[in-house]
Amino acid sequence: MLDWYDTHARAMPWRVGPADRRAGQRPDPYAVWLSEVMLQQTTVATVRDYFRRFIALWPTVDDLAAAEDADVMAAWAGLGYYARARNLLKCARVVSRDLEGRFPASLAGLLQLPGIGPYTAAALASIAFDLPETVVDGNVERVISRIFRVETPLPTAKPELTALAQRLTPAQRPGDYAQAIMDLGATICTPRNPACGICPWRAGCAAQAAGVQADLPRKVPK
Ligand code: ADE
Repeated sequence: MLDWYDTHARAMPWRVGPADRRAGQRPDPYAVWLSEVMLQQTTVATVRDYFRRFIALWPTVDDLAAAEDADVMAAWAGLGYYARARNLLKCARVVSRDLEGRFPASLAGLLQLPGIGPYTAAALASIAFDLPETVVDGNVERVISRIFRVETPLPTAKPELTALAQRLTPAQRPGDYAQAIMDLGATICTPRNPACGICPWRAGCAAQAAGVQADLPRKVPK
């Protein structure tokens, strides 16, 4: 999957691609944080322009911390879930005032910050700091449930899927791994009509071997 990511990573304005990363470039934790907060309930396509606008207006976490609340809320307009924007500002001010503008490079430190829950903390730890933490979102749950053919329905399967996802997370390149599995879920291992013919997991996917990939993950009927 990492080899696949090396050639198929989606370009995103907050990303450092695999080639640049190999050349020693590191992502800006502020940019990764901002993008992950925006991506919590919004699609990649919509987030792109908002992200660019925020970075142009407030290039660093100190700039954002010093912004007027009304200006940030106005720039957020259209993204919805305005509690996210209020927490965004709160978090920027804590990082700027108490942490000299540096995001903590540990899961525990990140989890203390306003608006940063387990998902965002793991995304930041892995993507920004290359720590072997595991991101589990809907895409990851789908990919993992298929590779390992987990027949337990969601949400019961969550702990099992999380454990399997953790076991798959490599010590080398955990940040690229996190983004690779998210890209795979978004572009190949899709909910409907997954493109198994071009999937890097083709030979090792238990669901595809059994022909049940389109039925996974199973869900408890509502
Ligand atoms: N969705 C949320 N965060 C993402 C990321 N870093 N890459 C791709 N999709 C995402």
